[in-house]
Amino acid sequence: MAQMKKILVIGATGHVGGQVVSQLADTGVGVRALARTPATASLPAGVEVVPGDLTAPETLIPALDGVHAVYLTWPMLPGAAANSVIEVIAEHTHRIVLLSSGAVRDDVAEQGNPIGRAHALVEQPIRDSGLEWTFLRPYGFATNTLEWVPQIRAGDVVRGAYGAASSTLLHEADIAAVAVLALTTDKHVGARYELSGPTSLSRAEQVATIGAAIGRPLIWEEITPAQAKAQMHWVSPEFADFILDGLAAMVDTPGQPTATIQEVTGAPARGYAQWAADHAADFA
Ligand SMILES: NC(=O)c1ccc[n+]([C@@H]2O[C@H](COP(=O)([O-])OP(=O)(O)OC[C@H]3O[C@@H](n4cnc5c(N)ncnc54)[C@H](OP(=O)(O)O)[C@@H]3O)[C@@H](O)[C@H]2O)c1
Repeated sequence: MAQMKKILVIGATGHVGGQVVSQLADTGVGVRALARTPATASLPAGVEVVPGDLTAPETLIPALDGVHAVYLTWPMLPGAAANSVIEVIAEHTHRIVLLSSGAVRDDVAEQGNPIGRAHALVEQPIRDSGLEWTFLRPYGFATNTLEWVPQIRAGDVVRGAYGAASSTLLHEADIAAVAVLALTTDKHVGARYELSGPTSLSRAEQVATIGAAIGRPLIWEEITPAQAKAQMHWVSPEFADFILDGLAAMVDTPGQPTATIQEVTGAPARGYAQWAADHAADFA
């Protein structure tokens, strides 16, 4: 009997990787999930969880044993560190699906922003590796709006800058659905998929949408970019400026939807209202 194909998911405990694991498990394919601390990784029953760390590429070797394809999340690590990781992956498997970013441009000699630069540094060694590859290039994730969880749990007002900034936020299940097809079928080799949600909504509208999902009248309250920056403790001041500049740009130029999810999966991309309903418990 032919051995069942096994797929290694790196970033399996993350927003998109978690969906990749459960959707792969639903297809009946063999799934192995990588986690830095398997003991605390919460993954579907029956999924094999193995230890490994991208900062120590040799730890990936046992995880890659018998693996046909890899789903790779590149977390906030220097892009240059990808070279040795990709080298190890290419020695042990045939195919890779990379969660890259819509910030990567093919029409420029140098990437214009830090996110595009970091992901381009991961894409390049994959292109050079001889692996079959697919690059997922998503725009903003709906999970970014989980940043409002503390405010919404505390009351009905969400304070932030650029409430009129409009974007096409993606449901992680849709990104994962594209990943699963690229991992398990041959049609997507060499594709670079720009992924987005189906419609553009302003941040104020996103907050109202969460309110509808949880049955509370949430209100957006505008604060200045400087006030918002002072609260962004989780990023460097430079990165906070980058995020805020991106929001400012989306006030005048709303994110435009792509049709890629529908084209690849045959199903329309899930809207933000669906995402908010799926995550209502996170905000309660
Ligand atoms: N947010 C957006 O709007 C957006 C848009 C486009 C692209 N992206 C890209 O999407 C990616 C993030 O995806 P996500 O939201 O699904 O991930 P996430 O929820 O942030 O989770 C990160 C994952 O990376 C794993 N990880 C972190 N450091 C690791 C290491 N040293 N070795 C092995 N695994 C490690 C974590 O696993 P453990 O901690 O369990 O080991 C976790 O599973 C980033 O590359 C980001 O640039 C994001």
